[in-house]
Amino acid sequence: MERKWWKEAVIYQIYPRSFKDSNGDGIGDLQGIIQKLDYIKNLGIDIIWLCPVYKSPNDDNGYDISSYQDIMDEFGTMKDIEKLLAEIHRRDIKLLMDLVVNHTSDEHPWFIESRSSQDNPYRDFYIWRKSKNGSPPNNWGSIFGGSAWEYDKTTDEYYLHLFSKKQPDLNWENPQVREKIYQMIKWWLDKGIDGFRIDTANNFSKAPDLPDGKIIKGYKYGDGSPYFLNGPHIHEYLQEMNKKVFSKYDIMTVGEAPGTTLELAAQYVNWDRHELDMVFHFELMDLDHHPIIKWQSREWKLSELKRIFTKWYEGLKEKGWNSLYMNNHDQPRMVSRFGDGKKYRIESAKMLATLLHTLPGTPYIYQGEEFGMINVAFDNIEDYRDIETINFYREKTKEGLPKEKTMEAIHRTSRDNARTPMQWDDSPNAGFTAGTPWIKVNPNYRKINVAKDLKDSNSIFYYYQKLIQLRKENLIMAYGDYRLILEDNEHIYSYLRSLGQERLLIILNFSADQTIFNLPTNINYQEKKLLISNYHIEEKEDIKRIYLRPYEARVYQLY
Ligand code: GLC
Ligand code: CA
Repeated sequence: MERKWWKEAVIYQIYPRSFKDSNGDGIGDLQGIIQKLDYIKNLGIDIIWLCPVYKSPNDDNGYDISSYQDIMDEFGTMKDIEKLLAEIHRRDIKLLMDLVVNHTSDEHPWFIESRSSQDNPYRDFYIWRKSKNGSPPNNWGSIFGGSAWEYDKTTDEYYLHLFSKKQPDLNWENPQVREKIYQMIKWWLDKGIDGFRIDTANNFSKAPDLPDGKIIKGYKYGDGSPYFLNGPHIHEYLQEMNKKVFSKYDIMTVGEAPGTTLELAAQYVNWDRHELDMVFHFELMDLDHHPIIKWQSREWKLSELKRIFTKWYEGLKEKGWNSLYMNNHDQPRMVSRFGDGKKYRIESAKMLATLLHTLPGTPYIYQGEEFGMINVAFDNIEDYRDIETINFYREKTKEGLPKEKTMEAIHRTSRDNARTPMQWDDSPNAGFTAGTPWIKVNPNYRKINVAKDLKDSNSIFYYYQKLIQLRKENLIMAYGDYRLILEDNEHIYSYLRSLGQERLLIILNFSADQTIFNLPTNINYQEKKLLISNYHIEEKEDIKRIYLRPYEARVYQLY
């Protein structure tokens, strides 16, 4: 196994808008991040992934970019980002930026040109089509609701937008588009950044005839995803981008890849193919809802969750590398979703952290996760800011769904669960801002905040710190083989890691019940050492049979 810095790293994701406001306008900013770098360093982080900070009209909080080589006014200036980069590097941390090149904002100069006339040189930078019998060119739905096509009367044609209508899709088939994108990427890499998280990295290539999608029950548009996810030229484009740009620098890339099967992912990250270093697959994120309609929940079993992690380990070992995450800025909070956000919040947050940091791959921590932030449940839609959530509410209201039902789905699933401001302390607005925050703070901030965790040596924060430290001291945590045990147990997730003579045994109670762990008889050892656990444990305790407490987690070294 080839050693790489990004395989041994722990990555921390910052959503700048909600991280720290330095000037009282209610919006997080680059200076705010600079103020908190010592905090991030103290946690033990090696790499920061910064969500988009480029110039943007903020229809989708910065994922709609109107100028790639400028900074969003609310966040600061080019000087600020240079300063941030220098301060990050001074602390021996690396910086990943977000690369959003499936689409631009409709306010990007390329699009303004493109829409102005059919013979404009930029026309072919985007995907324009004529109407089909008075209807949009095909039946695809946009990921944020409504049709994926917007009619533009200037030229009497439609443009494609997989996301909001202010996010027109770029036409990657046009070599000029790709060349411009590569130049822009080089410009950032020459500034010294250390890599990219690539937004919707498997959406760039669309099926040539843009065929209609299948109609799905409960959804009024066609599912175009088979025609825009993992499209016919996607590997070619990623390889070209790698060859022309990425390969010239010592950087890492991780591509967001919804709808990616293991087979495809194994191609994206295969070392010999030179495309991406890692992908974020969505199998775990799709575990608890309808395959296409994320708002429709579904029961899941622990054995399914285990099967996902195990399958992805098996499928990528000796070929590529896994990314490990359970939440981010698009997902609900992981404690609320996979643990228990109420009675066992602290125990379950630590248990889930133990899982993510002892699996093979690179762990990603989303801001707030490290002290157990949980979902928010605003009573009124007016308190929500996310375009996807607001569109969903509108659609459901129009369809006549009762408000309580709609809000229930929003409480469970909305992206704003992850976007409420960082809870730094128990002062007004959680110490996030001296002004009025752009989105309300989670009302639980007096109980759940950084200051509180920093004062308590038993806190979730220090548990993360210790896990990260252990990962640095024990290469087995990154590189060791993985073997699932007690496969069918619906309460316990347990596995062995091994590297040379070393072995780790991980035991996780995924339930609020007491449960008995029986060590399989074929696992032999002379001695054991407890590396970390979320409850007090007597060193001499026998581990052949253990009474696990709610959400108990333990990691043993076996000799
Ligand atoms: C990705 C981002 C998400 C954004 C979308 C469109 O899924 O993570 O936040 O809305 O792409 O850019
Ligand atoms: Ca600000």
